[in-house]
Amino acid sequence: MARKLLLSLIVAAGTFASVASAGEDNIQLKEGPGREIVETRCVACHSLDYIEMNSPILDRKGWEASVGKMVRIMGARIDESEVQTIVDYLTTQYGK
Ligand code: HEC
Repeated sequence: MARKLLLSLIVAAGTFASVASAGEDNIQLKEGPGREIVETRCVACHSLDYIEMNSPILDRKGWEASVGKMVRIMGARIDESEVQTIVDYLTTQYGK
């Protein structure tokens, strides 16, 4: 009985670990001007897969709004002079 419980705990822990690490650490954004800024600024709070996930739905206006929201609402520390570079990069590489 105790043995069975232990076994299922191990199985559950293994499942959790593989879900938690799925794609989180090894996301590489596409090569292009501005990539380094985007990678360092945007990864401060969440995984870069937020960018990939939104790529099919956001055009330039959408990315502008999204980056603006990160700065104004989420409190991202992104300098105003960087916003244009970031939006250009996202539109070119991950625009709809
Ligand atoms: C200060 C923290 C912070 C930084 C820095 C940040 N974000 Fe976010 N972002 C958030 C939070 C919080 C959410 C909402 C997360 C959730 O709902 O799970 C979010 C959600 C998103 C989403 C999902 C759509 C949405 O609007 O909720 C996208 C896309 C996104 N961020 C893109 C970016 C990009 C691009 C950058 C870099 C320019 C960035 N984020 C930097 C905090 C941040």
